[in-house]
Amino acid sequence: MKCSIYIHWPFCKSKCPYCDFNSHVRDGIDHSLWRASLIKEIDYYSQYLKDKEIVSIFFGGGTPSLAHESVISGIIEHLAKNYNLPNIAEITMEANPTSVESSKFKAIAAAGVNRVSLGIQSLYEKNLKFLGREHSAFEAKAAIEVARKYFSKFSFDLIYALPKQSLNEWAAELQEAKSLADGHLSLYQLTIEKGTKFFSEHKQGRFTLPDEDLAADMYTLTEEILEPDGYKTYEVSNYAKPGHECIHNLQYWQYGEYLGIGPGAHGRIKQGNSRYATQNISSPEEWLKLVNITGAGLQRNEALNQEDILKETVIMGLRTSAGVVAHPLMNKQRITTLCDNGLLELIDNKLITTNQGRLLLNSVIKYLLSKDL
Ligand SMILES: C[S@@+](CC[C@H](N)C(=O)[O-])C[C@H]1O[C@@H](n2cnc3c(N)ncnc32)[C@H](O)[C@@H]1O
Ligand code: SF4
Repeated sequence: MKCSIYIHWPFCKSKCPYCDFNSHVRDGIDHSLWRASLIKEIDYYSQYLKDKEIVSIFFGGGTPSLAHESVISGIIEHLAKNYNLPNIAEITMEANPTSVESSKFKAIAAAGVNRVSLGIQSLYEKNLKFLGREHSAFEAKAAIEVARKYFSKFSFDLIYALPKQSLNEWAAELQEAKSLADGHLSLYQLTIEKGTKFFSEHKQGRFTLPDEDLAADMYTLTEEILEPDGYKTYEVSNYAKPGHECIHNLQYWQYGEYLGIGPGAHGRIKQGNSRYATQNISSPEEWLKLVNITGAGLQRNEALNQEDILKETVIMGLRTSAGVVAHPLMNKQRITTLCDNGLLELIDNKLITTNQGRLLLNSVIKYLLSKDL
């Protein structure tokens, strides 16, 4: 049986004004303690892991590229020594493109990381400034080149649909991004999340976002620019040439099994005939305490019922171009309505969102899952 492992590093140099991820700014992080505690939590699942093949590991955050190299290498070494981690497993690390972080790429690659996902966010200085990023456009491009040198695969993230951004401006940025990319791009429209600095600034009218039509045009144009070069929209915001898809993220979207390690991490694992949802406590300090008392930072460990499983499979699967197998418990009338309206297609008993459906994905999912499932 296959599984993936997500490992959360919850610290950042500063908090970006748009970000609601579980990320914290702290002085004096004890990296050895964090390495030992993350390994301790992995070993809490040793019975589960003993007959699993680990197909992917993902160091996410926060900013795992700020962790000391020995944290990353220690965890990979431990997994390789004690569990079934084949050489071909995909090992990704999220990295911010400051020069300090890219100077660590050689050591990170030597530790076994074979894919990086760079948080470039924009190739333009004015956008980076608006997004409150710590890096410059020059550093972003330099980090891409360092990544190209050391990793067999790399991807980068951009955020678009920014205030005052025009369609032409996004098209020009994306053309440049395409020329720098290596077969995979994650392109997100800016969302305003509760509890962030942008949330209050947006509420106060300090900036406005592009209207729905412009945002939809930007989304459609994104595909039009990438498609001629062989990129496929394999998930709503993820574009890859064949063979460059992120194995780890596909494991989530195709509802495979994964362990969640570190503060706030989620997991989905099978034990016996049941599928469990796990969630760790978010606070880094509380997580450390809990791991060192009980061996894991769990705040939820719950067997999912059939309805939960179906819901989660649909929510994840409809994000992908592979779609989701139609299930007898789904409401046939609603499926027909969504197909008649050009939002879904039913191909070989698989439900797949159309381009139009992806633009309205949350509503499609809500309609399909509402009530009588
Ligand atoms: C866990 S975060 C970032 C990892 C890394 N610390 C960084 O900043 O590059 C993953 C990605 O989510 C995207 N993201 C986070 N918040 C967002 C928001 N409010 N709107 C759009 N994209 C967002 C960013 O592109 C970011 O790179
Ligand atoms: S976007 Fe990345 S660097 Fe910024 S606060 Fe979120 S996790 Fe940290």
